Amino acid sequence: MAQLLDGKALAQKIQADLAQQIQTLKAQLGRPPGLAVLMAGDNPASAAYVRGKERACERLGIASFGQHFPATVSQAELTEIIHQLNQDERVDGILVQLPLPDRLDASALLNQIDPDKDVDGLHPTNLGRLVRGEPGLRSCTPAGVMRLMQFYNIDLKSKQAIVVGRSILVGKPMALMLLEADATVMMAHSRSHNLSSLIRGADILVTAVGRPGMIAADMVKPGAAVIDVGISRITDATGQSRLVGDVQFEAVQSVAGAITPVPGGIGPMTVTMLLQNTVSSYCERLKSQPGD
Ligand SMILES: NC(=O)c1ccc[n+]([C@@H]2O[C@H](COP(=O)([O-])OP(=O)(O)OC[C@H]3O[C@@H](n4cnc5c(N)ncnc54)[C@H](OP(=O)(O)O)[C@@H]3O)[C@@H](O)[C@H]2O)c1
Repeated sequence: MAQLLDGKALAQKIQADLAQQIQTLKAQLGRPPGLAVLMAGDNPASAAYVRGKERACERLGIASFGQHFPATVSQAELTEIIHQLNQDERVDGILVQLPLPDRLDASALLNQIDPDKDVDGLHPTNLGRLVRGEPGLRSCTPAGVMRLMQFYNIDLKSKQAIVVGRSILVGKPMALMLLEADATVMMAHSRSHNLSSLIRGADILVTAVGRPGMIAADMVKPGAAVIDVGISRITDATGQSRLVGDVQFEAVQSVAGAITPVPGGIGPMTVTMLLQNTVSSYCERLKSQPGD
């Protein structure tokens, strides 16, 4: 039976450490860290994610500067808000909750965020730093995957890794982080041929697609580490609505060496990396205070 990679438990531990760190640093800087989550429209999944982030901030002692806009908000208004937050000394992190209403140009908005406050790690400067292997704010979901594997001592060096999904949010930065950790990395996507045999060759599988149960037990190499980033809401045979990943969890856990659950795997790690990035950005500001 595969070892369960418990993202929820690790997230709680990291968040408890961050809360302590914040208590200590607050006395030095005279203010708490600040995070601004911007949301436009009323997508219920986004609203739930934003509430989760704001509640986590409250628990840890991070000040929230979030703003919720109607779906009719203009590109110019959001751009102006981002410029104000870039200048606001109380704000260490800015995040634009995706997806935005179709009318809005998400990339253009993300590009307006000060890269040093880009706690989602999606600004081209931070993605460029990742490509170059330089320090910088890293995308939260792949950073959460790396942290979880590190905690469970999953050896990546010289291992065959496959990332299924190539989004800028998850798949691409994930592949780069695995590469940085000396894995031999392959990326797969909707146009890949022979997906099953590609996956079967991998010691590490990270799947970020959003197709419930697409990874079956016979696709997985015995003993592989299986990281399920996918989250989909389904109605099961009993009529209950629940969250599932890309992996057929019950079947795959009898083949894999290690596996993340959904929920309770990468989801809580993603939020935790956002909080971690906010605290890192806050610490950088603390270091650059005049007179220090
Ligand atoms: N746990 C978390 O905190 C967290 C965070 C972010 C996202 N997620 C979840 O992760 C999943 C992916 O998110 P995303 O934002 O990366 O989604 P996305 O932008 O829709 O990307 C999905 C990727 O999957 C690929 N794909 C689609 N069908 C495929 C198939 N049959 N075989 C192989 N690849 C296929 C697509 O390939 P093409 O590029 O060829 O279209 C695309 O690259 C979603 O379920 C999302 O909810 C979870």
